[in-house]
Amino acid sequence: IVALSVVPSTTTLVPESYNVTLRPYLTPSEQGLYIFTGSSTVRFTCKEPTDVIIIHSKQLNYTTTEEHRVVLRGVGGAQPPDIDRTELVELTQYLVVHLKGPLEAGSLYEMDTKFQGELADDLAGFYRSEYMDGDVRKVLATTQMAPSDARKSFPCFDEPSMKASFNITLIHPRDLTALSNMQPRGPSVPLPEDANWSITEFESTPVMSTYLLVFIVSEFTYVESKSPNDVLIRIWARPSATAEGQGSYALNVTGPILSFFAGHYDTPYPLDKSDQIALPDFNAGAMENWGLVTYRETSLLFDPLSSSSSNKERVVTVIAHELAHQWFGNLVTVAWWNDLWLNEGFASYVEYLGADYAEPTWNLKDLIVVNDVYPVMAVDALASSHPLTTPADEVNTPAQINEMFDSIAYNKGASVLRMLSDFLTEELFKKGLASYLHAFSYQSTTYLDLWEHLQKAVDNQTAIRLPATVRTIMDRWILQMGFPLITVDTKTGDISQQHFLLDPDSNVTRPSEFNYLWIVPISSIRNGAQQEEYWLQGEAQSKTTGDEWVLLNLNVTGYYQVNYDEDNWRKIQTQLQTDLSAIPVINRAQVIYDAFNLASAQKVPVTLALNNTLFLSGETEYIPWQAALSSLSYFQLMFDRTEVYSPMQKYLQKQVKPLFEYFQTTTSNWTQRPETLMDQYNEINTINTACSNGLSACEDLVSNLFAQWMGDPDNNPIHPNLRSTVYCKAIARGGEREWDFAWEQFRNATLVNEADKLRTGLACSTEVWILNRYLSYTLNPDLIRKQDATSTIISIANNVVGQTLAWDFIQSNWRKLFLDYGGGSFSFSNLIRGVTRRFSTEYELKQAKSKENNIMTLHGSIPRPNNYQHFLTPFLGGRFSSKLLISCNFTCKYFSHIS
Ligand code: BES
Ligand code: ZN
Repeated sequence: IVALSVVPSTTTLVPESYNVTLRPYLTPSEQGLYIFTGSSTVRFTCKEPTDVIIIHSKQLNYTTTEEHRVVLRGVGGAQPPDIDRTELVELTQYLVVHLKGPLEAGSLYEMDTKFQGELADDLAGFYRSEYMDGDVRKVLATTQMAPSDARKSFPCFDEPSMKASFNITLIHPRDLTALSNMQPRGPSVPLPEDANWSITEFESTPVMSTYLLVFIVSEFTYVESKSPNDVLIRIWARPSATAEGQGSYALNVTGPILSFFAGHYDTPYPLDKSDQIALPDFNAGAMENWGLVTYRETSLLFDPLSSSSSNKERVVTVIAHELAHQWFGNLVTVAWWNDLWLNEGFASYVEYLGADYAEPTWNLKDLIVVNDVYPVMAVDALASSHPLTTPADEVNTPAQINEMFDSIAYNKGASVLRMLSDFLTEELFKKGLASYLHAFSYQSTTYLDLWEHLQKAVDNQTAIRLPATVRTIMDRWILQMGFPLITVDTKTGDISQQHFLLDPDSNVTRPSEFNYLWIVPISSIRNGAQQEEYWLQGEAQSKTTGDEWVLLNLNVTGYYQVNYDEDNWRKIQTQLQTDLSAIPVINRAQVIYDAFNLASAQKVPVTLALNNTLFLSGETEYIPWQAALSSLSYFQLMFDRTEVYSPMQKYLQKQVKPLFEYFQTTTSNWTQRPETLMDQYNEINTINTACSNGLSACEDLVSNLFAQWMGDPDNNPIHPNLRSTVYCKAIARGGEREWDFAWEQFRNATLVNEADKLRTGLACSTEVWILNRYLSYTLNPDLIRKQDATSTIISIANNVVGQTLAWDFIQSNWRKLFLDYGGGSFSFSNLIRGVTRRFSTEYELKQAKSKENNIMTLHGSIPRPNNYQHFLTPFLGGRFSSKLLISCNFTCKYFSHIS
């Protein structure tokens, strides 16, 4: 407990290098326990005299000597003090070495340890993953160090800014392959005392952070190629997956993406190889370990015959994201986890650029609006949101670090950096970026360092003039939460800004030194013609008036929403209904999103929002439809247990029918797929919407397809793009027979893309007993992998029949779910949000509130507000204040009226 107050400090002991040897045992002990053993030497410089060494260590047992947990040596003539005693502090995850005398400033020391840990199936630190190869159960060892579990595989100064060089050695079964960040120094050699084992020694790493380390021992095989700059590229997977060619797509896109980023950053790829590996058990989607990126199978593997287009898009985007980190994050690292938003927000922005380079015909860049900008605005418009930045001293424990990984960091981070790049121009942004990377390679930074280098780029030219410094502008976007609503009055010509809150009754308790005002880049179109950009500073400004319609925020590059006077809204609607091509596709989505958000905030009538969807009968593009469907899905969630549901279904059926028929014709009765990716996505949305709203042609289509498959299980006639929808709808319409068939197919699937579609589809059953049985499967890792448990429960909760079952289930299993499944960074907050998405009655609110205490107790501390609010988010979103929405009297009439 003495150690509680002492934090390892970058200024006292500075690690220089580590020699680490680890030996995972892939068969269990007699007690059924899997373990690994290890030894480590850390060399460090003492900067300030101290008589205590504090180093991270978690769940490790030391066997160094009989007397002590460590052996200490001086290097280059330094005399080490004697060891008094050592202690392991569980709470702070420290190994504390108390010395009889001080370490001396300026001296170099080495500390040896020998230790043992459990190779558990807990997806953290050095862990075990299992899979079936035919009837044979195979075991592999792998790691997930980020953010704070390197300390679970060997004692280390486990903080991102305490960079060092690592010499890794793995001792492993002779017939398996050992992989790490670097290439082996030479061929593996037999272990002298036991020839069943081999030793593989890896080259020293560059100076790097501990959270980016990786060690893997497996029988995996690979496909390889060389990048244009001669970097060795390999895609590793289960031997059968590699043999089936599931790594080929990843291999094809990696070379282009690596060259793209090398150019984008004006910096060569920092290592001489780039390995990527697909793991059967993996908590997150992927992890950017330097030189050996780890993935969930669905994020890396792709089968041309059985995977869907969206599976393919997932692969190229995740690869682009993780490879972006190889420079931004790995070569230059933010010093502490409070600045995580810069790392993740940046990668979440440039993943679109990298993926677009690899797949230039897919129009991927537009998707940021539907995937990142609007979804996160829905969270950021709550009074309970939080700024992108967090003071460093508010982020101390692993739980607090994990809470940094939220949609504000990822999606708002991406949105705000995109806005910055847009107003600087990409060219200038790239200049500043390269200068930042050159200046800080192998070092750590804060976001201010990036601003400084961007400012230098601005100062070195004259074409782009900003109203203030990069820092002054950006402070308003990152130091205060939320975003502005820009209100335009075309009559008076006034334009003003105001902090946008979805729930008009909510109170903002978090003060802002900028009074919730922003410096806003305003782009616009007037009657189809793009106008000159200007900046809105302060509360209001006067602009010229005119009779033609205006639309602000071209392509939604600005992180804000817009409201107009009624007249202008009407003109926009008329334009959309007469010639929608005068309005760019992203802005057609914008008018829908903004209007629905404004309706929730009671700033425009709901009818205005609904009227903004009327043009959809003439819309064939994916992005506006996606905007409408995601906006209306809120209605769906609020209404699918009420009498509003039927009129609403009729309305949606009517709206989607022309598009359904359009696709039916253009795909020769669903036998071909549309050509472009966006059209393919739109086709899927269309079938989904048609089937969900009772269009009988759609219901027949899915039931027939599924029945055909059941009749001939070895030949699935359903196109991979349509499988998610068909499985779900057919299982919903079917009974036990359909479910059991799909479950059997799930158990036998060798491609995870396929297994995942079935796993999600199985949650669509409408039989209570089947859903309850399925829920119970989620706690049995032999049936549903731990990595998939929470997402399966969420799928069941998304089903209107499964909603209450899932809620009851997580209440009964709260403790187990939290302890065994809650460790991952996203999964638990996702679970809470997922199962309460439909909550909208006073009774449900009460139930949810009664769970708050459980969260706090299990969490061990009061969680940071934003994550805690994942739980209460639904109620803060105005569901209770906008009673208007929930009254049939009003809404039923509206739907019947326009149907
Ligand atoms: N650095 C993260 C992985 C991570 C997440 C590590 C949480 C530790 C805790 C990685 O770069 C990432 O962001 N992965 C995403 C996928 C990406 C395409 C957005 C993920 O895992 O969901
Ligand atoms: Zn990331």
